[in-house]
Amino acid sequence: MDLRLRPLRLEDEPVMRAAQQALAADDFEFAIDLTPDSDWAQYVAMLNRQHAGDVPADRVPASFLLAEVDGVVVGRASIRHQLNDWLLAHGGHIGYGVLPGHRRRGYASEILRQSLIIARAHGVDRALLTCDDDNAGSIAVIEGAGGRLDPEWPCSDDTPPRRRYWIG
Ligand SMILES: CC(C)(COP(=O)(O)OP(=O)(O)OC[C@H]1O[C@@H](n2cnc3c(N)ncnc32)[C@H](O)[C@@H]1OP(=O)(O)O)[C@@H](O)C(=O)NCCC(=O)NCCS
Repeated sequence: MDLRLRPLRLEDEPVMRAAQQALAADDFEFAIDLTPDSDWAQYVAMLNRQHAGDVPADRVPASFLLAEVDGVVVGRASIRHQLNDWLLAHGGHIGYGVLPGHRRRGYASEILRQSLIIARAHGVDRALLTCDDDNAGSIAVIEGAGGRLDPEWPCSDDTPPRRRYWIG
């Protein structure tokens, strides 16, 4: 499969805004922190700073990458180079999403496979992946990549049940 992960470009604004709307139905933020009012050029610059490690105190260095197949955007990955308390409890090292029209073709599995290699290049030897307990697709993707369920992690009463897996 020729799926390529690449950084965001200035010309990606329409596809990113459309993807943000499309994934809202899954309650999933495709374009992290992008609002309808966000200035696009500033948004891209912010992601570039985040990739370079220039982040505010409540953020960690991270790479936001679009997944393309034959020049068509099919999904995205967010690869956190470190964890903070929130990511340790909720977000994990790697988040991914695939556009509805491109699902069930192995793209998420390939996005995760490539993301794990990129995470390792940033020093992440053991990657934390999290997902909702009822997200059968994501569970299959993580377990297919060899994710080991962390049974020790307690679920708090005020959040929906989530699973935490380690890979590596
Ligand atoms: C979950 C998601 C990423 C799966 O993407 P995808 O590209 O369809 O996944 P893949 O094609 O790589 O599927 C991998 C496996 O999951 C299974 N799978 C995928 N979607 C599934 C679903 N909705 N229900 C059950 N199994 C599913 C596939 O059958 C496949 O299993 P197999 O290898 O045994 O055949 C996609 O549905 C999505 O983006 N959802 C919204 C965002 C989201 O939930 N992101 C993950 C947050 S943790």
